[in-house]
Amino acid sequence: MQRQAAVWRNAAQRVVLVPTMGALHEGHRSLIRVARRKARVDGIVVVSIYVNPLQFNDSRDLKIYPRSLSADKQLCREESVDAVFAPISLYEKDASVVLVENDLTTCLEGKCRPGHFAGVMTVVAKLFNLVCPDFSVFGEKDFQQATVIKRMVRDLDFPVSILLGPTKREEDGLAISSRNLLLTGPQRRQGAVLSKAIEFSRQSLGSRAVDLKRKLKRLIEKEPDVRVDYIEFVDTLNLKPVKVARKGNRVLLAARVGSVRLIDNGLL
Ligand code: PAJ
Repeated sequence: MQRQAAVWRNAAQRVVLVPTMGALHEGHRSLIRVARRKARVDGIVVVSIYVNPLQFNDSRDLKIYPRSLSADKQLCREESVDAVFAPISLYEKDASVVLVENDLTTCLEGKCRPGHFAGVMTVVAKLFNLVCPDFSVFGEKDFQQATVIKRMVRDLDFPVSILLGPTKREEDGLAISSRNLLLTGPQRRQGAVLSKAIEFSRQSLGSRAVDLKRKLKRLIEKEPDVRVDYIEFVDTLNLKPVKVARKGNRVLLAARVGSVRLIDNGLL
């Protein structure tokens, strides 16, 4: 991969990377389109596909993670992706170095999933060193992840610019996710309540965050199979909790639908 990246670099071709764990869906497709626009017709769009064991704090979750490499390659062909980088393994057996972030990762997903962001940052740093992209595209769907990656790039001077793509949703508002495949029919319908909660928040600007959180929890847990992990109103730049929900803040939430954990977020 590094040899190929050097060839592109020597030809002064712009390289844009979309890191994924495969099971590609319309959300990934939309990021690939952002990448293509940035690369322009003569630039290089690389999609990496790697289910990164280091970021799974739950081994069962890793085991059942959906995998569909041939369908993934087909989607990449449809989108005129120049290269799919799908390594079998990225780690030495005795790998002993990981990246740690000490501020943004102490809350929300970081708190619920110990070690998760160290795994994400480490694999993304490796992908940046292998593919040497000028730009890399991440989804707003995983807003904390995108914020952490931007901080990593800033604090460690990675020579790459991060682009964000908006969250793609199903018709009923459910954010598209590989994990949706694990939901049963009724659970799938109940999952739409998360986006309803975001919509409700947008209509409640000026409310105290504590009150709004209580209301949203009640709204979400009216669905029999849905249980809230967290709901937080934060400052978009540093993910610090805010006391009052104001325009420009973001609501981030996580819930279990049956045994499937879903996350979503939205700008107020
Ligand atoms: P994965 O879950 O495959 O997601 C790959 C990228 O697609 C991420 O940037 C994610 O935010 C984005 N994405 C997922 N669902 C989306 C949707 N509905 N709309 C728009 N974008 C969406 O996130 C990861 O993989 C991994 O943590 C990774 C960054 C690849 C590191 O292993």
